[in-house]
Amino acid sequence: MYIAKKLKQMLEDCELIPIASLINQDSISATSEKVGFVFPVYSWSLPKIVYDFIEKIDLSNTKYIFAVTTMGGFSKQYVAPVLIKLLKPKSKELDVAYNIRIFSNNIWGSKRINPVPSKEKADKRIKNGVLKLEKIAEIIRNNQKDKIKENSKYPMKNSYFSFINEVNTMDEKYYSDENCNGCGMCIKMCPVGNIRLVDEKPEWQHKCQMCTMCLHYCPQKAIQWGEYTLDRGRYNHPYIKLKELMEQSLVK
Ligand SMILES: Cc1cc2nc3c(=O)[nH]c(=O)nc-3n(C[C@H](O)[C@H](O)[C@H](O)COP(=O)(O)O)c2cc1C
Ligand code: SF4
Ligand code: SF4
Repeated sequence: MYIAKKLKQMLEDCELIPIASLINQDSISATSEKVGFVFPVYSWSLPKIVYDFIEKIDLSNTKYIFAVTTMGGFSKQYVAPVLIKLLKPKSKELDVAYNIRIFSNNIWGSKRINPVPSKEKADKRIKNGVLKLEKIAEIIRNNQKDKIKENSKYPMKNSYFSFINEVNTMDEKYYSDENCNGCGMCIKMCPVGNIRLVDEKPEWQHKCQMCTMCLHYCPQKAIQWGEYTLDRGRYNHPYIKLKELMEQSLVK
């Protein structure tokens, strides 16, 4: 969200629309000639909600398409090939795609690969990310086009598609422990309305995107995902306010 907001400022005449706010519409149509998709990399490529959104959106009026992704650390992502595959039936091309390394809020990878960053490290990564973004914004403003390799033999292909198929029910591993006080914050943090409070305890509704927001932003640190999170730190974005995160939730 931080990078998307920064890019909006840099591009000036630009509207930022959260994908979660549109995804349940019967049809989605882009009215702008320039459209960009800004999202975090999940399991080497697009979060399922972004995959479904791009599959659904009508891009007939669009002449320039860009993608900007944030990621935890792995550089050989499968982002561009998946985007190209989704755009092909619409007879559209991906003009540019860039990856910015921020840090990872993933909870199932090893803690060594996905550590919760210190304030100093987070600041440094964000600063470098914004510098890179300024160059990307210049490229987008000038409608520049890159040669993007269509690599259909990507080694992470199988792992990515099993993630897409399973992600909605990966919330079966979520539970709240004895520290839960029924405050309901997890409901407000979920961008897709996947949590209900039953007898003052959260219940996950199996339409999860694994964004991990409920877990990281529980004020009591009472949410766990199996055993993976018992001794793992919680990550809150240093520059995004709670209010901004809650605004994108489907539950107001
Ligand atoms: C379910 C999940 C899967 C992820 N998979 C990857 C990955 O394959 N490669 C990677 O570099 N980062 C991965 N990440 C890290 C995110 O890309 C990173 O946390 C995000 O870009 C940070 O931006 P944010 O603060 O806006 O969420 C993953 C994160 C989650 C929650
Ligand atoms: S945010 Fe945490 S403490 Fe509040 S209801 Fe959800 S799990 Fe319980
Ligand atoms: S906030 Fe929690 S329940 Fe909602 S999509 Fe993200 S991980 Fe799933």
